[in-house]
Amino acid sequence: MANPAEQRPLILIVDDNEQNRALAQASLENEDYDVAVAAGGEEALASFATRAADCVLLDVRMPGMNGFEVCTKLRTMPGGADTPIVFLTAQRDVDTFDAALRAGGDDFLTKPVRPTELVLRVQAALRLRRLNAENREYFALARRQRDDLMRLTLQKERLTAFVVHDLKNPVSNVDLQAQLVLRSKDLPERLRAPVEGIRQEVRSLMRLIMNLLDISKSEEGRLTPATAELDLAALAAEAFEAMAVAAKAKNITLEQQLDVTHLSADADLLRRVLENLLDNALRHAPEDSSIRMTSRLCDGSVELRVADQGAGVPESMRERVFDPFVQVESNDRSVTRSGRGLGLAFCRLAVEAHGGRIRVEDGNPGAVFCLSLPHAH
Ligand SMILES: Nc1ncnc2c1ncn2[C@@H]1O[C@H](COP(=O)(O)OP(=O)(O)OP(=O)(O)O)[C@@H](O)[C@H]1O
Ligand SMILES: [Mg+2]
Repeated sequence: MANPAEQRPLILIVDDNEQNRALAQASLENEDYDVAVAAGGEEALASFATRAADCVLLDVRMPGMNGFEVCTKLRTMPGGADTPIVFLTAQRDVDTFDAALRAGGDDFLTKPVRPTELVLRVQAALRLRRLNAENREYFALARRQRDDLMRLTLQKERLTAFVVHDLKNPVSNVDLQAQLVLRSKDLPERLRAPVEGIRQEVRSLMRLIMNLLDISKSEEGRLTPATAELDLAALAAEAFEAMAVAAKAKNITLEQQLDVTHLSADADLLRRVLENLLDNALRHAPEDSSIRMTSRLCDGSVELRVADQGAGVPESMRERVFDPFVQVESNDRSVTRSGRGLGLAFCRLAVEAHGGRIRVEDGNPGAVFCLSLPHAH
């Protein structure tokens, strides 16, 4: 039982964005903390001078005094030297992280911050304050290691983001050039197939790049669909066209029966979901078979299915195939090993960003990937 005479810990929230302040305040008051808020640096320092907070949540980018300056000043105030200061920032990069540590910050959270995570970090920060001197030494060591690890992670993220991003333009240029060659009248017939082959490979590379980009965007909470009314039939036709060469190579027919064609979704994301599903289906379907795309209305949602006649996904893997880097081991030599197990991870993120769901069922034989999306109103 908490001692009622004991003062509840005070958390000071400093953020120029009112919504962020209100969200953090509500999350912390829910946990019975006292909360003070400040919309800027001056206000934060004044509040701290009146009553020193037990923990400060500090936004980095604010008009006037920025978070780092506020932190440096707080450290010189009475009670401010050992108050845990947690930076909240939208910029997830090594430079910001280092600057936060240099300014004397204790912890670093990237926005958007989940309420539970915020509360956990505050609890951890308060607990650390109560540690005795010996434990503090261990903690300082652990913290140095944590900071090194965090720095490495951020550096790796930055490198990956650069590589992936910088690949995008040259790769799409290769595709454009290949299209030009295909359109040229003097292209000898025997070269048509190899150039189409180039396009197919380039598109598959492009899909991988886009999957990676969107997965990392989604980890940062930035994958927001640009929703608009769209024609599913046209979108399916585009996806079929993108996979035509691969389908021809295995003599697979792509069929569609769309009972619903009206949908409100992000055309680019949805087309790439369909391409990923078709890519998988083509990889797993036997030669001379068919792949079927259907749509219908079901309980107010649009249900879209992509069904193939391959080996299907074993029941034990039906949840896990949507996790990143998960691939089912296959003994079937006709199944061409593809990329990295990112396709379905992207599909799930994209579908869920629309408020929809995706699952895989048994087509008996074959796999049926089924996605349900909210219907346009
Ligand atoms: N239509 C399908 N039939 C059978 N197994 C499938 C089917 N689609 C996906 N799978 C299984 O799920 C795994 C994950 O698929 P996912 O699309 O995420 O990755 P991938 O196709 O292996 O690689 P990537 O899509 O990144 O190029 C696949 O490796 C495969 O084992
Ligand atoms: Mg795939």
